[in-house]
Amino acid sequence: MMPTFESRHGLDSRAGTALFLKRWLRRPFAMGAVIPSGRLLAEAMARATVQAMDGRPGHVVELGAGTGEVTKALLAAGIAPARLALIERDPELASFLRRHFTEPKIIEGDAARLPKLLADNGTTPIAAVVSSLPLLSLPTEIVNGIVHGVFEALPRGAALVQFTYGPTPPVPRALREQLRLVGTRGRRIWRNVPPAVVWTFRRPSAA
Ligand SMILES: C[S@@+](CC[C@H](N)C(=O)[O-])C[C@H]1O[C@@H](n2cnc3c(N)ncnc32)[C@H](O)[C@@H]1O
Repeated sequence: MMPTFESRHGLDSRAGTALFLKRWLRRPFAMGAVIPSGRLLAEAMARATVQAMDGRPGHVVELGAGTGEVTKALLAAGIAPARLALIERDPELASFLRRHFTEPKIIEGDAARLPKLLADNGTTPIAAVVSSLPLLSLPTEIVNGIVHGVFEALPRGAALVQFTYGPTPPVPRALREQLRLVGTRGRRIWRNVPPAVVWTFRRPSAA
């Protein structure tokens, strides 16, 4: 029988879902969802990331990797494992990721300290950032710190890919204006639970 992606990468989705739910019970606002992203959403995130990379060299940084659903899609989309750096703050989830992904760099830490985390781990330059952080359920000052850090780390013209369940862009308007971000909205993925939209934000090179 042909090995599946999951058997090759040793990733047991049921174990991942059970752990995700357990961590949600512990920290609902930090998790932002009861179950991991569905396959269609993860694939849409990966497509938007590959498009956003636009041939740039360097690492792809994934924020809030959780149990690795988006990570699997990024790998399946052809991003080399050595180019991936996963940032996860929850120690149990970070150790799950370490057990299941041997090649990507796994950094246990707070995305709000992104430039320092990347510098300390030799993870530069950056080609794109892809985030599943629950920006809608985090306090405004934390979201400000995270988004400022992302655009401090990204070169001009490079992008942040972020999904949301909400009707408005996941980066608040004031912050978009402050950083002069241009957002591009993808189609709503109705078959994800809950339905989600993938956004891409970048600071145009000339801004
Ligand atoms: C909605 S889950 C997404 C998990 C996975 N990427 C997926 O799509 O299924 C959000 C993840 O972000 C992590 N997280 C929340 N706040 C964080 C922070 N400040 N720094 C790093 N990770 C964080 C949570 O622990 C959780 O794993």
